[in-house]
Amino acid sequence: MTVRAIVTVGHPVLRERAREITADELASPEVQTLIDDLIDTMHDANGAGLAANQVDAPVRIAVIEVDHNPRYPYKPPIPLTVVVNPVIEPIDDELVEINEGCLSVPDLRGNVFRHVNVRVRYLDRDGVEHDEVKRGLTAGTFQHECDHLDGRLFLDRVQDTTTLTTWEQFERFHRDAFVARITEFVERVGS
Ligand code: NI
Repeated sequence: MTVRAIVTVGHPVLRERAREITADELASPEVQTLIDDLIDTMHDANGAGLAANQVDAPVRIAVIEVDHNPRYPYKPPIPLTVVVNPVIEPIDDELVEINEGCLSVPDLRGNVFRHVNVRVRYLDRDGVEHDEVKRGLTAGTFQHECDHLDGRLFLDRVQDTTTLTTWEQFERFHRDAFVARITEFVERVGS
């Protein structure tokens, strides 16, 4: 198990577009080890996802998993998913306002609008093509990770900066209302 250091906002690698990787690169021991390390690092940090550029590897790979996550207990489960060279696109215009955090933005959360229904195409770690529809908070998680690979942080999408809070103040003043609203949303959308 190898946990890599997560870089934080201000590091230039978080602001660069990560590059696509080739099939040969994906099959290489170096990239397969990077994927293992991303999974270990995500688990160690209790993240819902982690993009490769967050560990200073500027390639288009991200890992996603939600399983009773202590940082985001209201998120429906997502099985461990490795996305390589993902392409994401909204299916319609429906948006939802989600309170997000990020391992590269320590101790800050804020509200962003995300598409509720997206199509995502990607390769898994074995190079197998996937073409899937994601909805609700799960769609939001995929959009957050794909944003990372384009050099974008959730901070860039916060329209109302008065929603920014530390995690402590989120717990004290904002969590209950958000969880009530988003639980209703999850029950309606189903994920
Ligand atoms: Ni993030």
